[in-house]
Amino acid sequence: MSGRTWNAELYDTRHSFVAAYGGDLLELLAARPGERVLDAGCGTGEHAARLREAGAEVVGVDASPEMIDRARDRFPGLDLRVADLRSLGSDGSGGLGGFDAVLSNAVLHWIPEADRAAASLAAVLRPGGRLVAEFGGAGNIATIDAGARAVRAEQGLPDVPSPWYYPDPQEYTEVLERAGFEVAEARLFDRPTRLEGEDGLAQWLRMFAAHLSGGAGDEEAFRAAVADRVRADLYRDGAWWADYRRLRVTAVRR
Ligand code: BEZ
Repeated sequence: MSGRTWNAELYDTRHSFVAAYGGDLLELLAARPGERVLDAGCGTGEHAARLREAGAEVVGVDASPEMIDRARDRFPGLDLRVADLRSLGSDGSGGLGGFDAVLSNAVLHWIPEADRAAASLAAVLRPGGRLVAEFGGAGNIATIDAGARAVRAEQGLPDVPSPWYYPDPQEYTEVLERAGFEVAEARLFDRPTRLEGEDGLAQWLRMFAAHLSGGAGDEEAFRAAVADRVRADLYRDGAWWADYRRLRVTAVRR
């Protein structure tokens, strides 16, 4: 997770789908016993714990101290560190390096400095080490974002910059190649994501998109207005569905 402040408990209780959806990344990574694996952006530690169960020697890093604190509470004994994904191995993260594999789920879209992040991931992998990553790709949450911006305009609020980086496969392949990776797959796909509860969209906006309601006098009313606006597109079968589009990449460090 990026360097903003995170409510780690809300993340686990209302947004556990983040780790659940990332589960098949673990299969793709197929960590073998004894392999050294870095979970880059480990959040509250779910995947790092599963990698440990698989016999890997795991280190989990996250930019958010709140996430790392919660991960330490949930999974005692895991090697968990606060670290900036843009400068792994070269900051206070304890000399990370020589990993056989890096896993990264739902994090890289929080880092607009994509070249720095890719170079940093490459730097901690041994030659031949693999990267398996998934994050928001081109068009991710376009309906939510457009809906919130339309409500901002209606309410006379200024537009706000996006904190997110949503590349398409070609663009991100080039990022990885510049960082010294050989890309085996870069695939963009829709993954509508169910948000629990009648207030699911409002909770999602509260957790992940505070910038979109920034400056609104009554943020709760703002979120309700966004929900009204996007309901026809994103509410079906009695549930909210966020319009997630994932970019999944597998690559090998040259
Ligand atoms: C995502 O996982 O795609 C995502 C999560 C929070 C905010 C934006 C995107």
